Amino acid sequence: MNLIDKMIQRAKADKQRIVLPEGTEERTLRAADKLLSDEIANIILLGDQNEINIKAEQFGLTNLNNAVIINPKAHNKKEDYINLLIELRKHKGMTYEKAVKLVEDPLYLSCLMIKSGDADGEIAGAQNTTGDVLRPALQIIKTLPGVKVVSGAFIMFTNTPQYGEDGVLLFADCAVMPNPTADELASIAISSAKTMQSLVGVEPKVAMLSFSTKGSAEHEMVDKVREATRIAKETDPELKIDGELQADAALVAEVGQTKAPGSPIAGKANILVFPTLESGNIGYKLVQRLGNAQAVGPVLQGMAAPVNDLSRGCSVEDIYNMVTITANQAIGLK
Ligand code: ACO
Repeated sequence: MNLIDKMIQRAKADKQRIVLPEGTEERTLRAADKLLSDEIANIILLGDQNEINIKAEQFGLTNLNNAVIINPKAHNKKEDYINLLIELRKHKGMTYEKAVKLVEDPLYLSCLMIKSGDADGEIAGAQNTTGDVLRPALQIIKTLPGVKVVSGAFIMFTNTPQYGEDGVLLFADCAVMPNPTADELASIAISSAKTMQSLVGVEPKVAMLSFSTKGSAEHEMVDKVREATRIAKETDPELKIDGELQADAALVAEVGQTKAPGSPIAGKANILVFPTLESGNIGYKLVQRLGNAQAVGPVLQGMAAPVNDLSRGCSVEDIYNMVTITANQAIGLK
């Protein structure tokens, strides 16, 4: 059974309430219909009921009558969510007037629903940018206790079984933090290990990537990776982690032995933590395109409840898979 199939079984056995703020968007509706038909999750669509009904008929989607549909402009919990938003953001100058407008924004409403315990997770991004999906989640749902930053990981299914876990690796951060500090990079490493454990189910082996291996180069960017490795080890002494390592030393046994003899991770890593968003985002896209790997994500990690972002070029299958992953994260967090 492959990984997604395992996650589907887990989601079906403990159905989560997943809110889809882009509830009138065609690919979202098609994915919702299949998710309901396959009984993967309880789906909450945000949007106008009439518009959704018309589209359901137009696209021949017969299962959408099993979705909960909430119109962001008119529903009976609107006042509760306005008050919650004011309470959460009053230190940032949130007024009643601003809150009234924001709760009608489906991306804010979905986060307020999660914060209130009315939903377990959210997926958006088929129509909205990463920043617009993330901002309300960072402001309202926030990070898990002890986690410094939210970051985005990709599960990479490569065609090179000699690397990682039979060709499966986790890359982070590829989606959120443009230039993390050492402290933040350590937090990304620890969150990535938890994602690997909970979604892939294997022991995490974390390589903190750099352009230097164990002192082969000296630069402030290398210092940051070394310091992040130290902080991560101090925070979680059980974690299998090493750095700084170049990508070849992290992945290839012979190179690892030569460049980092005695390292518990060199040549065996299944998690690659990139020093900046530039390197992570470029790195995963190169492996995906030139290496013909399947990249599943970004899976957002470190948030107090799961919110995930889609690419605007996503397919119906991508949305289906991301809802399954989000449901699994929600189960894991409970
Ligand atoms: N983790 C936790 N909290 C965060 C994080 C984070 N990574 N980043 C920001 N926040 C919090 C801030 O502390 C702040 O909280 P507060 O208002 O309660 O004080 C709130 O979020 C807003 O912070 P800003 O810095 O004002 O947020 P901004 O909107 O400027 O940026 C964002 C946040 C949107 C995530 C930004 O970092 C960003 O755009 N990152 C890049 C996203 C991107 O474009 N990725 C590439 C595409 S994705 C892909 O290709 C797979």
